[in-house]
Amino acid sequence: MKRTTFDFPLSLERGGGEPLRAQLIRGLRAAVHTGRLSPGSPLPATRVLAADFGLSRGLVVEAYEQLLAEGYLTATRGSATRVAIPLPGESRVAAPVATVPRPGLPPPRPRFDFRPGIPDVALFPARAWMRALRRALAGDSLAVFDYPDPQGVEPARIALATYLNRARATLADPARVVLCTGFAQAARLVGEALRARGMRRIAVEDPGHAEQCTDLRASGLELVPVRVDDRGLRIDELAQTGAGAVLVTPAHQYPTGAVLAPERRAALLEWAARQDAFIIEDDYDAEYRYDREPVGALQGLAPDRVVYVGSASKVLAPSLRQGWLVLPASLTAVVAQAKLSADRGSPALEQHALAAFLEAGDLDRHLRRTRAIYRRRRDVLLEALEARTRGVAAGLHLLVDLPDGVEDIRLVEAAARDGIRVYSARAYYAWPAAAPPSPALLLGYGGISEKDIEPGIQRLVRLLWERRAVP
Ligand SMILES: Cc1ncc(COP(=O)(O)O)c(C=O)c1O
Repeated sequence: MKRTTFDFPLSLERGGGEPLRAQLIRGLRAAVHTGRLSPGSPLPATRVLAADFGLSRGLVVEAYEQLLAEGYLTATRGSATRVAIPLPGESRVAAPVATVPRPGLPPPRPRFDFRPGIPDVALFPARAWMRALRRALAGDSLAVFDYPDPQGVEPARIALATYLNRARATLADPARVVLCTGFAQAARLVGEALRARGMRRIAVEDPGHAEQCTDLRASGLELVPVRVDDRGLRIDELAQTGAGAVLVTPAHQYPTGAVLAPERRAALLEWAARQDAFIIEDDYDAEYRYDREPVGALQGLAPDRVVYVGSASKVLAPSLRQGWLVLPASLTAVVAQAKLSADRGSPALEQHALAAFLEAGDLDRHLRRTRAIYRRRRDVLLEALEARTRGVAAGLHLLVDLPDGVEDIRLVEAAARDGIRVYSARAYYAWPAAAPPSPALLLGYGGISEKDIEPGIQRLVRLLWERRAVP
């Protein structure tokens, strides 16, 4: 058996009864039948295959022509010969070769997509990111290919600390930065570190982000919901919980959009000092603030009490799965150890790319550009809504209150049938533990184009009035 540059094992018996051409045809046919060569996959150039197997090129050309004639392969001018894709209902694969289920097609995207919490990935700065990746690869050290420091590669920790200290008013020391797989992993790592210190309860905002709660709960902590009003988290209620830590979104509460009021920021820091507690600050989209200066991070006021968490998911793209923690000294080693045992560190090349991207000022440029775009989308949305809205000053989504008596869940379902994706705010509450929330919708404007906003809202409003008229 010979392994080739094509990495395709094929046994050819020389000097046996069967000609080599027939053996090659049979081998390729069998590979298509078993699914080893999957539909649409390219075959190597005849020259390459011939060289790999020590055959004449003419023989390989003949074999390909035979399989083209039989319909096993397809070829178009100027591109590689490929395994043919069977017509619907036609199956060449004799038996399943793998038991791994193949993911189905993603659900069709709604015509009007007001999904909250996502940026417009069409705005991703692909060129700048490619430049950064190239720079990461072109460095003179081969260390980029070795296991990384599980805490994060040093250039990325330095670049992040420099950026956060400038843009978010943190007091970040690169030695206390840990890079991780988004907020999702940050929550898990910190949760485990807190459990390891014997902590049992953590307070979370109500309403808040259900998936984050799941991530925290997975580390074994008990979650205690604390209400949020239009000035942010109720610190008076937090003080009653007996929790040893709290997860907050002070710059832009998720999902209400409230900014934690100055006196509550002070009260929160006092609570943490008094209780010897930790504050986990989820700073997920603070860079997107439209009507006034961004609120600085709490971490800058109490670096030994606050665990700062940032993520590339809103400012760049969620697919990057990049997140970062700035930790108090007392938690750094234990969180770094948790990261080591979780996955031995985040992919190094992407961390180096992030460092190069930040150092070149590309994040600042990207934010300047996208902030203006999102601001226009928000303005168009506000104009179209003509209703009471909340949390409009920042972020990529807002809340709109529905008239009394509207059944929000039914409206969301009717909207989905009509090609509009919106979410009810209800899903974010710890209700029924707390009082049922008044009906409101969460509308994201990150992933919808400016021109689609008004027609989408008009359609939604029509549905709303139809539902009111027909109980
Ligand atoms: C409130 C909040 N925090 C953080 C994140 C980022 O999570 P991750 O970094 O895991 O994508 C999100 C993303 O949806 C979010 O809504």
